[in-house]
This record gives sequence, C-alpha cells and structure tokens, in this order.
Amino acid sequence: MWGGRFAAGPDAIMEAINASIGFDKRMASQDIAGSRAHAAMLAATGVISDNDAEAIREGLLTVLSEIEAGTFQFSTALEDIHMNVEARLKEIIGEPAGRLHTGRSRNDQVATDFKLWVRDQFDAAEAGLIALIRALLTQAEAGADWVMPGFTHLQTAQPVTWGHHMMAYVEMFGRDLSRVRDARKRMNESPLGAAALAGTSFPIDRHMTAEALGFDRPSANSLDAVSDRDFALEFLSTASISAMHLSRFAEELVIWSSAQFRFVALSDRFSTGSSIMPQKKNPDAAELIRAKIGRIFGANTALMMVMKGLPLAYSKDMQEDKEQVFDAADNWMLALAAMEGMVKDMTANRENLAAAAGSGFSTATDLADWLVRVLKVPFRDAHHVTGTLVAMAEKKGCDLPDLTLAEMQSVHAGITEDIFSVLGVDNSVNSRLSYGGTAPKRVREQIARWKEALA
Ligand code: ARG
Repeated sequence: MWGGRFAAGPDAIMEAINASIGFDKRMASQDIAGSRAHAAMLAATGVISDNDAEAIREGLLTVLSEIEAGTFQFSTALEDIHMNVEARLKEIIGEPAGRLHTGRSRNDQVATDFKLWVRDQFDAAEAGLIALIRALLTQAEAGADWVMPGFTHLQTAQPVTWGHHMMAYVEMFGRDLSRVRDARKRMNESPLGAAALAGTSFPIDRHMTAEALGFDRPSANSLDAVSDRDFALEFLSTASISAMHLSRFAEELVIWSSAQFRFVALSDRFSTGSSIMPQKKNPDAAELIRAKIGRIFGANTALMMVMKGLPLAYSKDMQEDKEQVFDAADNWMLALAAMEGMVKDMTANRENLAAAAGSGFSTATDLADWLVRVLKVPFRDAHHVTGTLVAMAEKKGCDLPDLTLAEMQSVHAGITEDIFSVLGVDNSVNSRLSYGGTAPKRVREQIARWKEALA
C-alpha cells in the first residue's frame, strides 16, 4: 500500500509484530458495512461515479460472502482486515477498488469498525443481563416469603426472604443494565470521515455515513474521533463491574451448594463430577464465573495502560485494544449465559433455609426492638438486655425462643409472654415493612416494579 515511498519490504519480525489480521478479522462484517456506506456517500457527493460506487458495493458483498464461507485467504503481509478486504476487492473489481479509500484513512476506518463491533456487544450484554434478571425474578417470585438467614460478616444476622436475596442481585444486574444502555448511547457517534486526523478536503457527507451505519451523529472533532477509545474502556469497565457482581453471586452459590450449607441444589446440567470421588457434584460453572472477573478486569487495566500516555491522534499502540475487548466480551457473555442457566435450574432447599434462618439467635434484634416498642426501654439498654439473654441461651445450648418466661424475666422484669410472638422468623421478616425491607409484601412490590420496567 505504501510501496511508492519504500525501497525494501518489512522484516519478518516487523511483519509479525505489526500485523493485526490474526484477530481483527473478527471485524470483517463491520469493515465491509463501513466501506459500503462510505462508497455510497462518495457517489452521492460526486466524489466518485455511481458506476464505481456500485462496483465497489457489489464487490464488497462478494468479499463478505467469501469470508462467511471460510474461503477467504487472509494474508499477514496485508497487515489488517482493512487492507485484506481492499486487496481482495481489487482482485475482484479491478481499478474502481482504488477509489474506495478517498477521503478516509485506516485511522477513522478502524475506529468505525471497532465501534460497530463494540456496539453489537453492548446490545448482546443488554440481552444477556435482561435474561439473567428475568431468571432471578422467577426465583424471587417463587420464594418471596421463604425465610433464610441474612448474613453480615458471613455470620447469621437477621432472617431475610429468599425473594429479597434474589432481588438484591436484580438491583445489581439492573445497574449493570443501566450502565450498558448509558454507555451505548454515549458511544454512538461516527468517526468515519475524520480521515487520518484532520478531516478531508473532499466534499464528503459525514452525516450520511453516520446515519447509514446507525450512528446518532458524526463525532465533532476529527482528532478526537481517531484517537478515542473511551467506548472500549466504558465497555470494559461496565463488564468489569458486572463480572464482579457475577463473581459475588457465584461465590454465594459455591457456598450455598456445599454439604455444610445445603441451601441450594444446582442442576446436573450446570455441575460436574469428580473422576475419583463418586459422591461429588461440583459447582464448576459457578467457580469459573467467579474467576472470569480476573481476565475481564485485567483487560480493562491493560487498555487503560495502553491509552494513558498517548499523544493525539492515532498511535499504533491502539491496535492493542482489540484482543482485550474481544476476550472480555466473549467471557462476559458466556458468564451471563451460564449464570442465567444456573439460576433457572437451581432448586432452593426450603427446609434447610428455614432451619438455618431460625438458628444463630437470628431474631435477637426483634427481641431488642420489642423491648423498645412495648416497654419503652432505650435501644442501647435493650441491646444489653438481649445480649444477656443470648449469652444465657448459648450457655443452656438452646435458641432464644427456648428460654422460659421466668428466665427472661430474671434479666428484665417487664418481659411478658407476648415476647414469644416476635421470636419466630416469619414474624421477623413480615415485620420488616420499611421501604426496601425484606417483608414478602415489599419484595412482591419490587418484583412487580421490575417486571413492569422490563415489559
Ligand atoms: N491495524 C490498525 C489498528 O488496528 C489499523 C489502523 C492502522 N493505521 C495506521 N496509521 N497504521 O489500529
């Protein structure tokens, strides 16, 4: 492509470090869509003839069909997808192919292709998140009033409902969804026609190509257009936060499916066995999802480092953007789909959840609240009285409801029989009616709100 200026071809090592075709061929359809839009615009603005544009646009479809059929011969010597496609176009249609690269550069071309690719991934992530949220809503609806222990420090804290716990993840993945939509909207500006860095002297119509490619508008500054990779970084940071959410939930599933907890049974379809221990059913999908954050956040860090010291405008460093994003996108989509499958298939063990909910003095706060509400004891004093009762029960080896009224009255004389009504876990969760609380009534309201939001 630049033989006019050069006397010698590149060293083999130069070719190896320079080429991106090994990975950027994933953007073939985006590259061809961008070139077809560019050719149509060049004809509409009179820069090239209608006949040439028609030959280019048809020829590009032939190239695309060859790539899709797997018959296309990719060449490392041709460096990247842009030059591979153009060279093949030349073979197919001859001279008019040389007019395609008028008023553009590979710098705006690669930015356009990559943006189109990342935009598709934002759309795929949106669909994956919605599917996962729906699976969580189904679980939440089934178990809106199933009691389970809520934890802080992974120590029993207060009873909550299964539905409430599922809905916590709906909120988390819901924020991911809103980040995806927000970033997709912001990135949807077309770099095409920014050319190498300064724009072009040809009378091109950037609004026309932007519209043809589904962009909201052309980007407003040609230097920024070719050197911006914020869209890729927003994709990676959104993916990182989402992968972190997936990882936290995966960790809970690993714990919950253990023999010690037995809160859930994962389906055979999303588990594996052991080659030596016949009894084993391992939560491999959850473990792998838990690990995906490593490479996804790694990609985010890597691209941040690539970009951080680059002067305007394009530098070849930016070619290092794609593999990170490809890998992160593949693994984020896979993790979302695997989590959706696991959530759909898993069975909550209601009896174990309920038994665990009632153990570990989980209703101690309810007892303290009763002292405050009924006996008007200041909360700090109620906390102390309850702590004394917990210590008494612990010494006796029983739970709070197993203490006798006399034993309770020995700690605070005002306690009446009425206290036992607040020590049950169902009472406990039903009483937590504050907005956003765990009461089944509140949980069902949130489920309804989300269903409406997704409808
Ligand atoms: N393969 C290059 C990339 O991925 C395309 C742009 C090359 N532009 C240039 N001026 N060398 O970034």
